Amino acid sequence: MAEEMRILMRNYGKIDPLNIDDYLNAGGYKSLDKARSMSQKDLIEEVKKSGLRGRGGAGFNAGMKWNFSYSAVSDQKYVICNADEGEPGTYKDRLIMENDPQSILEGMAICGYAIGSDQGYIYCRGEYPYVVEKLNTAIQQAKEQGVLGGFNIEVRMGAGAYVCGEESALIESIEGHRGEPRFKPPFPPVIGLWGKPTIVNNVETFANIPHILEKGADWYAGIGSKSYPGTKLMTLTGDIVKRTFIEVPTDTTIRQLIFDFGGGIPEGKKFKAVQIGGTSGGFIPKSLLDTLIDFDSMAAIGATLGSGAVFVMDETRDIVDVTNRITKFFEHESCGKCSPCREGTKRMHEIVDKINNGLGSATDLDLLGRLGTVMSKACLCGLGQAAPSPVLTTLQHFRSEYTDKL
Ligand SMILES: Cc1cc2nc3c(=O)[nH]c(=O)nc-3n(C[C@H](O)[C@H](O)[C@H](O)COP(=O)(O)O)c2cc1C
Repeated sequence: MAEEMRILMRNYGKIDPLNIDDYLNAGGYKSLDKARSMSQKDLIEEVKKSGLRGRGGAGFNAGMKWNFSYSAVSDQKYVICNADEGEPGTYKDRLIMENDPQSILEGMAICGYAIGSDQGYIYCRGEYPYVVEKLNTAIQQAKEQGVLGGFNIEVRMGAGAYVCGEESALIESIEGHRGEPRFKPPFPPVIGLWGKPTIVNNVETFANIPHILEKGADWYAGIGSKSYPGTKLMTLTGDIVKRTFIEVPTDTTIRQLIFDFGGGIPEGKKFKAVQIGGTSGGFIPKSLLDTLIDFDSMAAIGATLGSGAVFVMDETRDIVDVTNRITKFFEHESCGKCSPCREGTKRMHEIVDKINNGLGSATDLDLLGRLGTVMSKACLCGLGQAAPSPVLTTLQHFRSEYTDKL
């Protein structure tokens, strides 16, 4: 059986997350001291060398991103921790925030030193008010202990819009505007919050940083898949025996996740499909279960690693019905700024709903495929670009479920 590897969750259940002394006694904030003894350039090089790639969905190399902001000349720079966690079925960032909040603050402060920023924000989803309280307590304790030095961190709360997890919509939201994505380029590391260079990284990305500094880039680069090293925190949901979280190296297969760690499908039923990475993730059939859960292996099969949510469906699930609910979600969450997404998500839901109700035709299937392909290319942000992937992958792997309803 494959083994769990706890790096991020190393302190889980061992420390009192709301007592900074526990974190300090477990070696906390030594990595920040170490970072500050290095030059900014060497620090960024170390993060780059570790191979750490963003855990929020896009998988961009963290050190490279930091370098853009470091190189940008500005009187002010910002560090933002993306804790929007809006993907249904995902709670990995909440786990880190609730169980080891200081590790996130330490990671943000290291980033602040690397790029030359003294101000950080944690953008936390509005549905997590109790987490915000904990974060504020952790920040207060860090300030009292003086461990953050001159780096200041404040929490900002979202109000429930899924699109506000998209980094530029998130920035608009912090600025007090409507949460809508910006046109890119320019990208936030160069022109971000209030027009200043801004690093936006996911909670899990920041939480990895102290461990990389402590044990070294080579140690980290040697864990899991070469192209996406480290561990990944995953949440197992749906038709699975153990609905839990799990932290595993990135060279673990989907099959190991579901059948070794998750205990398989309950009540002796058979596996039908799994959707990984949240609502916008592709559906994966049985034949692809031996795919590794690293970013590139998932992308190669038209799926995503995304937020790390693993939604398992047994043989009794109606794939078209599940897809219909997903298209409804995207119709609701589209911010409406660009027409391919505003119109596309609405029409996509309309067509899938029609098929689901037995009123569709073969032409509708072709139309769905074409619409999905256009949206994935034409939409302004990742919401509209990824919204078709459940539709396109179910058309590819579970087409007979659609044709059975025609
Ligand atoms: C619709 C949408 C929602 C997103 N939601 C989140 C989110 O909740 N948390 C997150 O970290 N990234 C989210 N992202 C990705 C961010 O735009 C961005 O890539 C990420 O925060 C960068 O951090 P990372 O490089 O550490 O992954 C979302 C993207 C899109 C398009």
